[in-house]
Amino acid sequence: MRTFKTITSGTLAMLVLVAFGGCCSECKAPPEAKPTAQESPKSAAAPAAQVTGGPAFTAAAKETLPVQKAGDYEGLHNVFQLSSNITVGSEPSTEGLHAMQKLGIKTIISVDGKVPDAATARSLGMRYVHIPIQYKTLTDEEIAVLAKTFRECEAPFFVHCFHGKHRGPAASAIGRRALDGASPERAIAEMRQWSGTAADYEGLYAAVLTKVVPDAAATRTVAFNFPEAEMPEGVPAWMSRMERMNDALKRMAANAWKPDPHHPDLVPLEAAKNLASLTASDWCQGEKAMTAEMAALQKDAVRASEALVAVLSTGDNAAKSAAHKNVLQSCTACHKLYRNK
Ligand code: HEC
Repeated sequence: MRTFKTITSGTLAMLVLVAFGGCCSECKAPPEAKPTAQESPKSAAAPAAQVTGGPAFTAAAKETLPVQKAGDYEGLHNVFQLSSNITVGSEPSTEGLHAMQKLGIKTIISVDGKVPDAATARSLGMRYVHIPIQYKTLTDEEIAVLAKTFRECEAPFFVHCFHGKHRGPAASAIGRRALDGASPERAIAEMRQWSGTAADYEGLYAAVLTKVVPDAAATRTVAFNFPEAEMPEGVPAWMSRMERMNDALKRMAANAWKPDPHHPDLVPLEAAKNLASLTASDWCQGEKAMTAEMAALQKDAVRASEALVAVLSTGDNAAKSAAHKNVLQSCTACHKLYRNK
């Protein structure tokens, strides 16, 4: 399962030189790409919100798309059908996988760090391809393997990250360009105006708007074996565990600090302790040293999550929510400097 890691550490030029003889049993080389984008009517235009952001985010408001409400299913949220080939949304629960099957999905692309439930997907006649990406940008290598997957695996595709707002929409935008022939301007407009990709992720917008998507011939020679699961390593792996604990805490905060009814076995105090210990871990694990500034921000985050643990065993709900807000701020403080750019 190290293939993708090995490939992504090389350069695209090297990738293209290494012709990959076979591909996975279920993903075949396609006939010529055919543009199948569904152009929606231009009426009922949504007014572009006045939000400040970088140039690519700003460009995503140039063409005004018709309003499209997010689809919502049990265990599957923020769902937008971008074309007959490509739908984008949140990480599915088991129920969400069933919803996808009813939508006729054949291939699921996950760009989140978490290892997907490929076995359940397979039992429902769908195939996972796992291509974890970061929030900073899409690298040339990631764009190449995404384009290859869209061209050589079976449509229709469902693309997901965790919440279905930022990374998933960026990856599906590459599919819109590679498979549907959508313009880069149209693809970023869909990210912003439909999925709601935030202005903070200018790097994702810029990659979709400006980077070259290799053509079908070029992607045919890219070495990629369509892995169902990549084990995330290093900082992203720790972060995705922290995000899950933090998400559980958000649901409990919204439930008057009682356990989330869907996960009654996880109580707030346990979730907070878990988050504190994850936050305090050595994420870099000798891979590369943290800067002093980043280490200080990690300490702030540890302090904030320990304060939440303390208040959960004694405090009232308002104090609990205030402590949780401090945790969220400590996450954001570091991400502003180290994640989004
Ligand atoms: C001291 C810095 C720091 C703190 C504090 C921090 N993060 Fe992160 N986080 C990062 C960095 C750096 C990345 C980008 C990792 C990469 O791209 O390799 C990241 C990435 C992420 C990601 C994306 C992971 C992925 O799959 O790519 C999530 C989700 C996340 N953080 C959640 C959290 C949450 C929740 C908290 C607070 C409880 C938190 N982080 C606190 C530095 C931090």
